[in-house]
Amino acid sequence: MDGINLDQIIHEVVTKYLKKPMIVAGNWKMNMTVREGWEFLEKLGSVDTNVLIFPPYTTLALLAPEMRKRGILYGPQNFHYEDSGAYTGEISIPMIRELGCSCLLAGHSERRSYYNETDEALSRKVAKGIRSGFRVMLCIGESLEERRNGQWQKKLTEQIALDLRELERKELDSVLIAYEPIWAIGTGVSASLEEIQETHGFLKMAMREMFGCELPLLYGGSVNEKNAQEIGGCPYVDGFLIGGASLKPEKFRKIIEISKSV
Ligand code: PGA
Repeated sequence: MDGINLDQIIHEVVTKYLKKPMIVAGNWKMNMTVREGWEFLEKLGSVDTNVLIFPPYTTLALLAPEMRKRGILYGPQNFHYEDSGAYTGEISIPMIRELGCSCLLAGHSERRSYYNETDEALSRKVAKGIRSGFRVMLCIGESLEERRNGQWQKKLTEQIALDLRELERKELDSVLIAYEPIWAIGTGVSASLEEIQETHGFLKMAMREMFGCELPLLYGGSVNEKNAQEIGGCPYVDGFLIGGASLKPEKFRKIIEISKSV
């Protein structure tokens, strides 16, 4: 059996064929007025699997009951680690709790790059969100330069280690990771299947080494109704985080249906 790692093969077969239901998450970013969100939900209808939407705050607040009615889980795209205070433009956990949210998005690359969100602030946010009873979806991802220079493993493991550093072992059960290569976000070109497989395999192994367990790992970056089947079929892909294609109910519905069969 020289050169063949039996444990690895068994692990891949088990994760591929005995996969848990996939998670399909939509990140609406700064899109969707309340009226547009309402129309989207009307067209989407009800869901019977793990579907999550992160709308902008105003839409989130007004459409929370509609999402609940349809079996959709929801949460904010960002939140502050303090409960209240002089933080103009920010939203706190008690405000989010009132809306019946279940999962919070943290560390999206657009927030990291446009709003200087640091790993220091993120570690406080993640801990605050989890200790307040929510699940947190932490986004990580490398730039094109880091991918090309072979720096991606270092970048991704650093983000995980730094952003989750405040958590106790059992608190990790409330964390989901969304791997989103920055160069694939909003470009229409996802990472290749080989890159996804390699990166997800690497991240699952790194998590086992760091924490002694694997956290659910979603892929994000130009996922659409055409590539979801292939991406979802890769070992170690536990779901999708979708931007552009989550704004169109027909596309989002198609991806939800595909997620049930991969
Ligand atoms: P995209 O965005 O699907 O439009 O590439 C993904 C994301 O930013 O979460």
